[in-house]
Amino acid sequence: MTAPPPTPVDKAASTLQRLARVASARRQRAELEVRLPRNDKLLAPFVTASPQVVDFFASQLCGPDDVVIDLGCGDGRVLRACLERGHALAVYGVDIQPAPLQRARDALQPWADRCNLLQADFFDDAVRALLGQCTICFLFLLPDTLAMLAPLLKRELKPGARVVCSVFKFPDDAWDADSCIEAPAPAVAVEARRLWTYTVRGTKMLS
Ligand SMILES: C[S@@+](CC[C@H](N)C(=O)[O-])C[C@H]1O[C@@H](n2cnc3c(N)ncnc32)[C@H](O)[C@@H]1O
Repeated sequence: MTAPPPTPVDKAASTLQRLARVASARRQRAELEVRLPRNDKLLAPFVTASPQVVDFFASQLCGPDDVVIDLGCGDGRVLRACLERGHALAVYGVDIQPAPLQRARDALQPWADRCNLLQADFFDDAVRALLGQCTICFLFLLPDTLAMLAPLLKRELKPGARVVCSVFKFPDDAWDADSCIEAPAPAVAVEARRLWTYTVRGTKMLS
């Protein structure tokens, strides 16, 4: 049996449905633009690492002698977790956005003498100076951003320093991982609790 031809009312209803879908998509895009501040240098939105990743990094991958940097530190929860466990000599956080960074300043206030938080772009000179002092670097950033950061990290971190990427890894042509660890939390999707570890190789030229 063939369907009856659409009546003028059917046609009007389908046009209205199409318009509603377009309006909804526009509204969603507008909301996203409000949430993501307009900043050409902003390479990732502020999204926090999962509690399981934060806990595993701070308790298992960091040690008491480590100097830790979180590039794109957001609200500072990773750095705070390291300090709470006594697993960092000092911590450095860098973020381009003032709002999350202010939250980091508040969260790290009890350890103010052991932390340095910088509102800066990853590629600012001040960040290069911090990287040279660090033994471990935490990154929760997108693969494209990781690819951009790889040369900077290989150049500025000390040989032997470790880099730990949460969820996303460096593209294979940018840096080979030493290991991929799954933070133990069976209820959480495996993609959200993966940590990729890297080591800076080679010797540093004396300038
Ligand atoms: C996915 S969040 C990670 C937050 C935190 N590391 C965590 O794991 O909970 C990425 C952060 O990178 C920051 N960011 C993005 N582009 C940046 C840039 N060019 N320089 C410095 N920070 C940047 C964002 O503001 C955001 O807070």
